[in-house]
Amino acid sequence: MEGDDDVEMREWCHALPKIELHAHLNGSIRDSTLLELAKRLGEKGVIVFEDVEHIIMKYGRSLPECFQLFDLFHILATDHETVTRITKEVIEDFAAENVVYLELRTTPKKNEAKGMTKRSYMKAVIDGLRAVETVDVVLFDSSNENGSESTIINGTSAEMKRRKIYMGLLLSIDRRETTTAAVETVDLAVEMKDLGVVGIDLSGNPVIGEWQTYLPALKHAKEVGLPITLHCGEVPNKKEIQAMLDFCPQRMGHVCYLEEEEWKTLKSLKIPVEICLTSNVRTERVPSVEYHHFVDLYNAKHPLALCTDDPGLFSTSLSNEYFLVASAFGLSKGEMLQISQKAVEYIFADSEMKKSLMKVFEDAQRKLVL
Ligand code: IMP
Ligand code: ZN
Repeated sequence: MEGDDDVEMREWCHALPKIELHAHLNGSIRDSTLLELAKRLGEKGVIVFEDVEHIIMKYGRSLPECFQLFDLFHILATDHETVTRITKEVIEDFAAENVVYLELRTTPKKNEAKGMTKRSYMKAVIDGLRAVETVDVVLFDSSNENGSESTIINGTSAEMKRRKIYMGLLLSIDRRETTTAAVETVDLAVEMKDLGVVGIDLSGNPVIGEWQTYLPALKHAKEVGLPITLHCGEVPNKKEIQAMLDFCPQRMGHVCYLEEEEWKTLKSLKIPVEICLTSNVRTERVPSVEYHHFVDLYNAKHPLALCTDDPGLFSTSLSNEYFLVASAFGLSKGEMLQISQKAVEYIFADSEMKKSLMKVFEDAQRKLVL
C-alpha cells in the first residue's frame, strides 16, 4: 500500500497541467470499451469473445504481444462510428488527467468492407473531436493566413469558462505500408491542415519494414513544412538509427537502443525526445524505470517530454508517468512543473498556441503548491 506522501504526490501529479506529445489513438482505448466492442463482435460471430477477453485484460505484455493486440484493436474498431466514439472517449480521458495540450496520433486506415478510406477514417476521428462533451476542444488551424487563430470546435461562447484541451493531430505512417501508401498519408495531412493536423509520425512494428520505403514520404513532408516525429531505436538497428539521426526530424520517440556515438549525435542535434517510461519497461526495452535513459537525458538538460505512448495498452496515465519520475529519481514538484512547462516548446503547433499554453502554466504556477 502507498503511504500518505505517495498519495499526496499522485494527487499533485494529477493536478499538474500536462502536455502529451506521444499517444496513439488505438493504444488509448478504455478497457471497458474494448470489452464491450469484443462482446458485440462475439455476439455477431465475427470473433470468439472468450478467446480475446484474456488478451485484453492481460497485464504485462512483450513487444510482439502488443502488436498482436493492435491487430485485434483494429478488428474491433473498424467502422466509422466506433472510431468516432473511441476518439471522443480518449480525449475526455486525457482531459480528465489535466492534459492541457494533446497531440494525438493515429494511422489513417482503409477498410473496403466498411467503405472506409484514409480520408473517411480521419473524418470519423474529427467527428470524435467535435463530439467531446466535458471540455472545449481547441484546434490549431495552421492554414489560417495569420497563422495564429485557434478554432474552438465544440464550445459555445456561453461555455467559454469551461476547461479547455488544446489539440493537434499527427498522421502516422505504419511501417507495414508501401511508399505509395505513406505518400498518400502525407498528402492527406497537407489537405487536413485546417482541421488540426500538425504533423507526421512513423510508427508500427519496429522489426518490420525498411527506412528507404518511408523516406520519399518523409522527405515530401519535410519539403511541404510538416513537422515529423520518428519512432527510433525500439530495437537495435544501427543503420536505421543513423539514417534517422541524419534525417534530423523535429522529435523522436523512445530512443532505447542508441550507442555511444549515436547518443552524442542526438545530443548535439538537440532533437527533443518523447520519453515513454511505462511503455519501455513493459515491453522490456529497458530493465526498470530506474535504469531508463530519461535520467541521462534529463541530467544533460536534453529537450524531452514525458508521454504515455499507449495508456490503454499499458494501463498508465500521464499523471502516473510524472509520479514514476518523482518516485524513481526523487524529482521535486518544481522540477516536474518545469519538465511539463518546457514541453510546450516542442509542440508542433505555432507560437500563438504556445503563448496560450504558457498562460495556462503561469496560472498553474500561482495555484500549485510546490
Ligand atoms: P493507431 O495508429 O491509432 O491505430 O494506434 C495503434 C498503432 O500505433 C499500432 O498499430 C502501431 O502501428 C502504432 N504503435 C503504438 N504503439 C507503438 C509502439 O510502442 N511502437 C511502434 N508503434 C506503435
Ligand atoms: Zn509510440
